[in-house]
Amino acid sequence: MATGHEKVEKNIGLMIILITIVVSIGGLVQIVPLFFMESMLKPVEGLKPYPALQLAGRDIYVRESCMVCHSQMIRPFRAETERYGHYSVAGEFVYDRPFQWGSKRTGPDLHRVGGRYSDDWHYAHLNNPRDVVPESVMPGYPWLNENLIDGEDVQHKMQVLKDWFDHPYTDEEIAQAAQAVSDKTEMDAIIAYLQNLGTAIKTVR
Ligand code: HEC
Repeated sequence: MATGHEKVEKNIGLMIILITIVVSIGGLVQIVPLFFMESMLKPVEGLKPYPALQLAGRDIYVRESCMVCHSQMIRPFRAETERYGHYSVAGEFVYDRPFQWGSKRTGPDLHRVGGRYSDDWHYAHLNNPRDVVPESVMPGYPWLNENLIDGEDVQHKMQVLKDWFDHPYTDEEIAQAAQAVSDKTEMDAIIAYLQNLGTAIKTVR
């Protein structure tokens, strides 16, 4: 007489179905509670949706694929917090669509780089990293000086984020967006974005 277990082991189709059920239950138990945990959904205190110039800068960060070499995710380990500052918390990313956590660190984590260097340092570094960090392997991005930010485009993005994703922009902020980015280069925008990174949580370094 074949036991129940033997039947499962000898019937690969049945085994696949049962494994799928078990793995799904395990997955749901881990994932579903996160949808309801307040700390996962609520912005940390003081977090604001990206102002026009930073929002434009964020999109350039995405376009240039900075996340290929840089993470924005400080793990809660001593070695990380000593180097980068307070570990990253979920509530800091609620206005990041999509988030830029990254998965590889060829360069350092950037989540708390905001305010660490001067704007001038960033201009020099992004133009040619070797001018300020001689051993750097990061590529230069001098073309970011050449193009201006399109104000209407930013305005439109803010409106979409507000209408579809409930980012709390005021009508006034949206109306003034084009003005806020007028005459700003892509370089100005990405630096504004970098200088704000991780500053919602005040870190004691
Ligand atoms: C090929 C990998 C690579 C890419 C792509 C890259 N970086 Fe880097 N980045 C590095 C490395 C390596 C360092 C460390 C050396 C240095 O400071 O230049 C670094 C350092 C930095 C730093 C200084 C961080 C600190 O704490 O000292 C900033 C800011 C930065 N990168 C921003 C950017 C931005 C913005 C982009 C996209 C426009 C970008 N990086 C793309 C490799 C990369």
